Amino acid sequence: MAFFHFSLVFFISSILLFNHSVKCDNDEEDVLFQGVNEYRASLNLTTLTKNENANCLAEQIADQFKNQPCTNTTGANTVPGTEPQFANYPELLTKCHLNISNTRDGSIMPACVPGLVPGIVLTNFTKSLYSQNLNDTKFTGIGIGSEDNWIVVVLTTTTSDGSFLPDTSGANFISTIGLVYCLMLLLVGNIIMF
Ligand SMILES: *[C@@H]1O[C@H](CO)[C@@H](O)[C@H](O)[C@H]1NC(C)=O
Ligand SMILES: *[C@@H]1O[C@H](CO)[C@@H](O)[C@H](O)[C@H]1NC(C)=O
Ligand SMILES: *[C@@H]1O[C@H](CO)[C@@H](O)[C@H](O)[C@H]1NC(C)=O
Ligand SMILES: *[C@@H]1O[C@H](CO)[C@@H](O)[C@H](O)[C@H]1NC(C)=O
Ligand SMILES: *[C@@H]1O[C@H](CO)[C@@H](O)[C@H](O)[C@H]1NC(C)=O
Repeated sequence: MAFFHFSLVFFISSILLFNHSVKCDNDEEDVLFQGVNEYRASLNLTTLTKNENANCLAEQIADQFKNQPCTNTTGANTVPGTEPQFANYPELLTKCHLNISNTRDGSIMPACVPGLVPGIVLTNFTKSLYSQNLNDTKFTGIGIGSEDNWIVVVLTTTTSDGSFLPDTSGANFISTIGLVYCLMLLLVGNIIMF
């Protein structure tokens, strides 16, 4: 009986958590990820692999742009080797356990597309100056974040200056737990659905 109650509570709280607080991934981001790699394949370039830390930074930066109109690109800085002009950029890096010395060679590319219509989002990257970075063989990893009408792509390299490897610390342990937790909830969600 006690086990039954425990199961019931676990079941209900899983549904609540699953519905309200877990957002493991996002459709527009996945579509863009695939689109960018198809574009790279068409140019015979290597596939970009997902980089969790770049992903985290992309989310943080998208969060800075959210609520800003598309015309306002204040803070955007698309030139590799220069940092975005957000006053709180160091803070955003810290949140993602990154150190500026490992992100300098990366490239941060924000775009604003009302409604984030997938086809338009992709051409925003492949048919603009951003294509210069997508065409570049030095980039090997990618992170994508979106908020509102904004979507941010962060490219990473294999060199230490652009690896987006975490700053030392045990903070990664927490994000691993977070990931496992997210996967577990997904699993529970699937069990409930089927
Ligand atoms: C990609 O490689 C294929 C086969 O080697 C070649 O036919 C094609 O022209 C290349 N495309 C580009 C854009 O370099
Ligand atoms: C543009 O964005 C910056 C940075 O978020 C903000 O300080 C500024 O007020 C915005 N300007 C307009 C016109 O929205
Ligand atoms: C980043 O890393 C460099 C080299 O490891 C170190 O000297 C610097 O203090 C670090 N910066 C921050 C903000 O942690
Ligand atoms: C994205 O595309 C829209 C429509 O083509 C354009 O107005 C906008 O400037 C583009 N943004 C970027 C960052 O390329
Ligand atoms: C990137 O490569 C494509 C295909 O070769 C080309 O059309 C485009 O102009 C290049 N972008 C830049 C900025 O050179």
